[in-house]
Amino acid sequence: MQEDLDRVLFEEDAIRVRLDALAAEITAFYSNRELTVLALLNGSLIFAADLLRRVPLPLRIDCLRVSSYHGGTESSGVVTFEEQTLPDLRGRHVLVLDDILDTGRTLHAVLERLSEVGAPLSAEACVLLSKRRPRAAHCEPRFVGFEMEDEFVVGYGLDYRERYRNLPYIGVLKPQIYCGSGPG
Ligand code: XMP
Repeated sequence: MQEDLDRVLFEEDAIRVRLDALAAEITAFYSNRELTVLALLNGSLIFAADLLRRVPLPLRIDCLRVSSYHGGTESSGVVTFEEQTLPDLRGRHVLVLDDILDTGRTLHAVLERLSEVGAPLSAEACVLLSKRRPRAAHCEPRFVGFEMEDEFVVGYGLDYRERYRNLPYIGVLKPQIYCGSGPG
């Protein structure tokens, strides 16, 4: 799998160090409040597992399956909620966790839907990675792990056609792996 990468962007150690700091920020922000985490599947699975074990707050974990990439390397622009029912979030402080902020459409759609039908007490977002690029939809996560350039990355939960999620680090995929196959 490593031979499919152009280079490693964030090594395991760097991720570990950043997660310690991010978890401390989240813990301080919510102090003694009870938190409900809504992890977006499948991309945030590994990030959520590692981050939340560092957050010593009373918390609940729920998951939501959404997709906007549909197997390619560019956002399709359509955010699909694969499970239509949101967990009961009324009166809760909700933190949405996602792997990566790209066009912003996914988080924007999730936060909008939360405020329309979820009626939480508060809703914030936390992403492991944020691409430096113009957003197609307004979205400002309160917590960000790393800023990065606009490149397609895999590993640590991030995939290309469901592969590479189990890499323990994050790397830039060689363009020849996806060139010619087209998005989707
Ligand atoms: P948007 O464009 O809605 O995208 O902010 C967020 C979702 O798109 C996926 N995504 C990526 N997945 N490598 C990936 O494996 C990437 O570089 C990448 N960029 C965006 C991801 O599912 C994210 O939740």
